[in-house]
Amino acid sequence: MAQPVTASGLTTGHAPFVEEARHRGELYIEQKYELYSAENHESWKRLYQRIQSRWARYANDHFLKGIEVLDLAPDRVPRLTEINQRLEPLTGFQAKPVSGYVPGFLFFDCLRRREFPTTITIRPPDRMDYLPEPDIFHDVAGHVPMHTERAFADTLVRFGDCAHTAVEMTASVRDPRERARRLTNIVKAMSRFFWFTVEFGLMRGRQGTCAYGSGLLSSYGELEHAIESDEVQRYPVQLEWLINQGAEIDHYQPLLFIIDSFDHLFGLVDRLEHWMRQGKLDNVAPGLPEIQESDLRSFLDAAAKV
Ligand SMILES: [Fe+2]
Repeated sequence: MAQPVTASGLTTGHAPFVEEARHRGELYIEQKYELYSAENHESWKRLYQRIQSRWARYANDHFLKGIEVLDLAPDRVPRLTEINQRLEPLTGFQAKPVSGYVPGFLFFDCLRRREFPTTITIRPPDRMDYLPEPDIFHDVAGHVPMHTERAFADTLVRFGDCAHTAVEMTASVRDPRERARRLTNIVKAMSRFFWFTVEFGLMRGRQGTCAYGSGLLSSYGELEHAIESDEVQRYPVQLEWLINQGAEIDHYQPLLFIIDSFDHLFGLVDRLEHWMRQGKLDNVAPGLPEIQESDLRSFLDAAAKV
C-alpha cells in the first residue's frame, strides 16, 4: 500500500510529493501548501531575513519595487496563488509550480506564454548558503520580483520567441546529425546568454553597479561578492562575448557583464535572434555548459512537429 506523502515536508531532495509526481512524468504540479513543515517555513524566514540588508545595498531599483509590490511573506514560504494575484495584472506573468527540471525548449516556451516554471521545494537548513539546483527561494525571491517589471518581462517573452526561431531555423535541415549539431550550438549560445544576464546579470544603477540576475539576488554571499570583490571581472555586455564565454557553475562567478537598462537587454535579445537567423550561432566556442540530452531532445521534438 502506498505511504501517505507528508513526512519530509517539501525539502529539496526529500519531498516525496514532488518526487512521486516526477516519477509519474508530471511536470506541472500544484503547490500543496499544507505539506510545508515548520522547518521549511523557518528556512524561508532565515533566508529572507538574512538577505534584506544586501538587497537594500546591491539590488536594482526595479527588483526592490517588485519585492514591495508582491508583498512576500517574510516569515513563511509564500503561496504562489497569492503572488500570482499581484503579479499577473502587472505584466501577465505567473509563477507555475513544477516537479523538477524543465527541458530547454519547454522552459523557454513557458516564458513565451508568460509562465515561469517554479520550484516549490526549499533547501534543507544545513545548506542555506549553496544549493546547485533551484529551490523556491531562488525562484520566488530571486526571479519572480523581476517579473513585475514590464521591459524585463517582455525580454523573457522575446527569449521564448528565440527558442521558436531556433526550431524554425533547424527544422528544414535534412541531415539529422547536422540538425542536432546546429541546435546544440544554438542552445549553448542561448544558455550562455541566459546565464550571464537573467541569472547573473549586473546593470548600471543610480549609485553604481547593481544586480538584476536572480542567481545573485538569491545568494547572500555572492550578491556582495559580485559587486564588491576585486576577484570579479566586470565588463559592459557584448553579445559576441556572451555567447562564446564558457559558463562556470559550482563557485562564485569570476566574470560578470553589465547592461545599461532592460531596454538595452531587450535589444540584445533582438540581436541574438537576428544572429540566429543569419547562422551566426551555428558555431559558437566549445565549452560549458554541456548541453544535456533532455534539452536537445526537447528542441528536436519541437522541430519534428514543424
Ligand atoms: Fe534561476
